[in-house]
Amino acid sequence: MSKNPQDQKMQNLVSLCRRRAFVFQSSEIYGGLNGCWDYGPLGVELKRNIKDLWWRDTVLSRTDVEGVDCSILMNPKVWEASGHVQSFTDPMVDCLQCRGRFRADHINNQQCPTCGSKNKFTEVRHFNLMFKTHVGALEDSSSVAYLRPETCQGIFANFDNIVNTCRVKVPFGIAQIGKAFRNEINPRNFTFRSREFEQMEMEFFCHPNEAPKWFEYWKQERYGWYLKYGIKKERLHLREHEKSELAHYAAGCADIEYDFPFGCSELEGIANRTDYDLKKHSEFSKKDLSYFDQGLNERYFPYVIEPSAGADRATLAFLVDAYEEEAERTVLRFHPKIAPIKAAVFPLVNKDGMPEAAQGIFKTLKKKWNTFYDDKGAVGRRYRRQDEAGTPFCITVDGDTAKDQSVTVRHRDSMAQDRVAVDRVVEFLSPYLEA
Ligand code: GAP
Repeated sequence: MSKNPQDQKMQNLVSLCRRRAFVFQSSEIYGGLNGCWDYGPLGVELKRNIKDLWWRDTVLSRTDVEGVDCSILMNPKVWEASGHVQSFTDPMVDCLQCRGRFRADHINNQQCPTCGSKNKFTEVRHFNLMFKTHVGALEDSSSVAYLRPETCQGIFANFDNIVNTCRVKVPFGIAQIGKAFRNEINPRNFTFRSREFEQMEMEFFCHPNEAPKWFEYWKQERYGWYLKYGIKKERLHLREHEKSELAHYAAGCADIEYDFPFGCSELEGIANRTDYDLKKHSEFSKKDLSYFDQGLNERYFPYVIEPSAGADRATLAFLVDAYEEEAERTVLRFHPKIAPIKAAVFPLVNKDGMPEAAQGIFKTLKKKWNTFYDDKGAVGRRYRRQDEAGTPFCITVDGDTAKDQSVTVRHRDSMAQDRVAVDRVVEFLSPYLEA
């Protein structure tokens, strides 16, 4: 039976990711580890570009957001205060027939999804999704620590430090990019649901009366961010949560969703977390985290608007969105600022001074951008290899270069070619690649 075209597309993309060194299975030579992935040379550049653009747009280009980089291990009281120790759980049942383990709320009609047997399940048990470890030499209850399941708690724990050291005034934000870990029961859909992943989170602290305004602002800002870097509008959706879907502490939440081949799924959540977190951390740490607003002469607990994105999910969405199979080629149409390799330089043939001229251009470009040099095989094949890597520009030194001091710049998407003077190649590419 032939595959559904969307499943086939996803399978082809996964195989391209492996073949072209975007993403590998973690510890593949040992059979891998479910829910864990490694980024290869192209993938690491792609993901790094996405994180750098997020950081530039969320922190560096603004005057009201500070950045932090907190430790992954924190005092376990943090996770008591946040509610994770108590309730960051999935309800699970085991099938008594085949021993399969499933989320209780994913079972239909009491029927096992694997073996089909009916009414043969254990009682519902709650599995905590946090990875537990021990800090120091003793492995007892006094040394328990957790790998953080979200980065935002490090931000809340540092709220007072930032207020006291950085001359910030509400409204302001604190941002962080970093690893998070969840012992997902069912990791799936390639990197979409992993056990180890990276988050890009920003907590924006504001006066409670202004929270609805900032909630609207950040929803639009974050939705627009994906469009700015080329995600197709018809595949990107902003979905407001129903009241029944809201976490107990949230006054509002919206998801930015993307039409992945495996279905429309969450890329990022934007939540109005109210003053829940600062109040809880005040209560558990016994440190007053309220804020004195000098302008209003008023003390209050700021409300928090939180845009929380996944760096790996964003990377997957940019890959899926860019991926196209054409009659003659497979191409990744990345936005130039996202593309892992910005330009490739080729000598048409390896003689008549062409390699020397191409090496000169390569060295100049390499100082500014990630640039690739390729002198192997027919030039058409070299173009195809770069199309698959998503490289927006290929620069070819040919027989005329020595005569007219110019090269051919070939555009990945249109395949159109421009003739550009050798000493103006950087100037030609800059508008596409620079902020
Ligand atoms: N601080 C709020 C928070 O962590 P979340 O919806 O649980 O909210 C935010 O996670 C984002 O983190 C998600 O929108 C997603 O992009 C990413 N994320 C969450 N769990 C993930 C997983 N298992 N694998 C990959 N990314 C994940």
